[in-house]
Amino acid sequence: MCRRFDPASVHLVIVMGLLNNQLFQKWFGGGALERFGANRLAGLQMVMLGRHKPPEVLQLLRQVRRERVSLLTGFESHVIYSLAQAQAHLPGDMAEVGVFQGASAKLLCSAKGDKPLHLFDTFEGLPKATAEDGTVHAEHQYACSLESVQEYLKQYDNVSFIKGLFPESAVGLEERKYCLVHLDVDLYQSTLGCLNYFYPRMIPGGVILSHDYSLLAGVKAAFDEFLKDKPERVFELPTTQCMLIKLDEGMLAQ
Ligand SMILES: C[S@@+](CC[C@H](N)C(=O)[O-])C[C@H]1O[C@@H](n2cnc3c(N)ncnc32)[C@H](O)[C@@H]1O
Repeated sequence: MCRRFDPASVHLVIVMGLLNNQLFQKWFGGGALERFGANRLAGLQMVMLGRHKPPEVLQLLRQVRRERVSLLTGFESHVIYSLAQAQAHLPGDMAEVGVFQGASAKLLCSAKGDKPLHLFDTFEGLPKATAEDGTVHAEHQYACSLESVQEYLKQYDNVSFIKGLFPESAVGLEERKYCLVHLDVDLYQSTLGCLNYFYPRMIPGGVILSHDYSLLAGVKAAFDEFLKDKPERVFELPTTQCMLIKLDEGMLAQ
């Protein structure tokens, strides 16, 4: 029997292999080649999603990709949008740390309804990496001005923009509770700071979703270290993302 190769599948396997390769990450992480790889993967994944997801959702994901630079794949974009829709009816606010040009923030805005959304970023790019991160990222990488993101998201209500290094920047928000937090901060110290800040502020059933858990050593190390003495476990997705679902303390005490 003669088996024919599906060119899309071969393409997908090559791009996935490259994106997950440590050496590729070290040399090209965050640069034009990584963006090229992520774009190719996103295009293929959009075709796959188009077979079984609603056309209006696909249209939104495609629109965001056209409008803003982003390293999110098609599946990752879909996870963010779909999870925000699922959590939107729960009590608590939503937040994102790591906004860059606002691609993932627009997905959250489109799904959140009236819920308050807090968008945290230095808006001057990444802080300095530490030894846990290796050499993948450069300081100030992913800089995008606050004004540009505000303009991009101006049609959405109840969105606040907080400029500065998180968590020091979260002044005056100490009493807020959260049903969904999206982390896309790339670095060990930033991820650990976010987990320390948000974990006690999550409602039971609230979700912290992070990009890059299975791709970036610093992000994985921060989650693994933080959860060492907690009852929750990391839920790894087939994308680079992971989820932490906050458990109900009352239920744990039974
Ligand atoms: C990969 S980009 C985010 C991509 C974005 N989510 C998207 O959809 O394209 C990482 C962002 O994290 C921000 N960042 C990292 N650590 C931070 C911290 N401790 N406080 C504030 N912003 C931080 C950087 O400024 C950068 O904009």
